[in-house]
Amino acid sequence: MDTIGVIGTGNMGGAILKGWSPLKDISLIGYDIDEQKLNKICMELKVQKARDIPELIQKSTYILLAVKPTQVKSLLKKYKDLFLDNHTLMSICAGIKIKKIKKWCGGKAKVVRIMPNTPALVGKGMFAICFEEEVDGSTHAKVIELFNVLGKCFEMEENYIDAYTALIGSGPAYIIYFLEALVEAGVSLGFQRQISIEMVKGLLSGTTKMIEELDKSLAGLREMVTSPAGTTIAALNHFDRMAVRGAIIDALHQACKRSKELGE
Ligand SMILES: NC(=O)c1ccc[n+]([C@@H]2O[C@H](COP(=O)([O-])OP(=O)(O)OC[C@H]3O[C@@H](n4cnc5c(N)ncnc54)[C@H](OP(=O)(O)O)[C@@H]3O)[C@@H](O)[C@H]2O)c1
Repeated sequence: MDTIGVIGTGNMGGAILKGWSPLKDISLIGYDIDEQKLNKICMELKVQKARDIPELIQKSTYILLAVKPTQVKSLLKKYKDLFLDNHTLMSICAGIKIKKIKKWCGGKAKVVRIMPNTPALVGKGMFAICFEEEVDGSTHAKVIELFNVLGKCFEMEENYIDAYTALIGSGPAYIIYFLEALVEAGVSLGFQRQISIEMVKGLLSGTTKMIEELDKSLAGLREMVTSPAGTTIAALNHFDRMAVRGAIIDALHQACKRSKELGE
């Protein structure tokens, strides 16, 4: 049975442990410098508490690194002699490239870089997964299996990660930004703010269910509600006159550029 160690049991590490905790074919061990946070997780979930990082590394074959990006370098360098070639180090730390992780951890462990998004906090994450070349077939399959439990995985080359960050990492903020604009529109059209919020939330969950359950393309679903000379086409024409689609595409290019800058 594989043991998976999680270093950093904060927001993301804690959510990932929660998602893996019901699995029967793995055992989990966690460590966090914040002992209260660690105790809470270990009491609530089927997770063993590591005394320190060396104990966690020695007991684990897969190690998830879930500390803040600024903490990674010193942590890995401090324990680099403990990482062996049978370890797989999975980092979810934003902006840190495989090459750097590999160097800081002493070069023996296999490195996998993962980029989650915030819906992972509620078990609906999307994960970009980048493997370094040395990862063997069974390790590769295990990592994909583990992250598919938590949501949806997209395997990609590391040079796509900035584009992924722009589209999916930041994505929840764009959706919420658009929803906030709809709420304002509702208020502007005369609804009480709270009613407008409730209606817009219902709109999102209903539309999401339709996308998931009806066998139609996105364009097909939009056309269902866009009758000739009707209300919807009047609004969509206005979006097009205002070049909303072009602004969204340009915005994502800006996000991708910023992600590249932050990773340098
Ligand atoms: N949250 C997201 O939506 C999201 C999305 C994509 C990627 N990520 C990545 O996920 C990683 C974790 O983010 P988060 O939001 O979960 O952060 P977080 O809630 O701050 O969790 C990190 C935890 O690690 C602990 N820690 C710090 N140094 C440590 C050490 N040397 N050994 C063990 N534990 C240590 C922190 O304790 P203290 O609080 O006491 O420092 C904290 O409890 C980040 O690298 C981030 O880039 C997060």
